[in-house]
Amino acid sequence: MAKVFEQVGLGALQPANRLVRSATWEGMCSADGRPTKKLVDYYTELARGGVGLIVSGYAYVSPEGKQMPGKMGMHDDALAKDHIRLTQAVHEAGGLVVVQLVHAGGQTDSDKAGQRPVAPSALELEQYPELPQELSKERISELISAFAKAAAREIG
Ligand SMILES: Cc1cc2nc3c(=O)[nH]c(=O)nc-3n(C[C@H](O)[C@H](O)[C@H](O)COP(=O)(O)O)c2cc1C
Repeated sequence: MAKVFEQVGLGALQPANRLVRSATWEGMCSADGRPTKKLVDYYTELARGGVGLIVSGYAYVSPEGKQMPGKMGMHDDALAKDHIRLTQAVHEAGGLVVVQLVHAGGQTDSDKAGQRPVAPSALELEQYPELPQELSKERISELISAFAKAAAREIG
């Protein structure tokens, strides 16, 4: 039990303990994917409460990969200052934060994605009845790059 409260090495990260808040969509980002003050306050509270590492709710790497309202974006350098604000606040509260990168593929709808959803195959799913548009190989390569760019984005 005592180990839970011991520092642990996770690659380059050194969380203060082994308590991890699993990825949980909060719906607290602006329509264009920026973390809001509400989300900053929420993560700060988690860190102050003793969570060593927070995994963000899923963050889309490309706008049409957005699945839920208020979802975090990680698709554009223009969002950096908002992510830096979030990260710094968590660090000051003694925690660490990592971002979960996703693309919703066909598991979204035109309203959230801003266009007809895209997927590797044009297959309808029971929970997501809008028929997605099949991705070209070129577009799949671009989305792979979008993941790499989002992971390499410098946010603090
Ligand atoms: C409201 C809500 C939002 C969630 N959002 C995400 C998410 O963004 N990414 C993810 O991988 N899992 C998400 N999950 C799953 C949780 O991270 C977790 O794996 C799940 O709740 C099971 O954990 P538990 O058994 O401790 O409840 C979400 C769960 C809930 C209840």
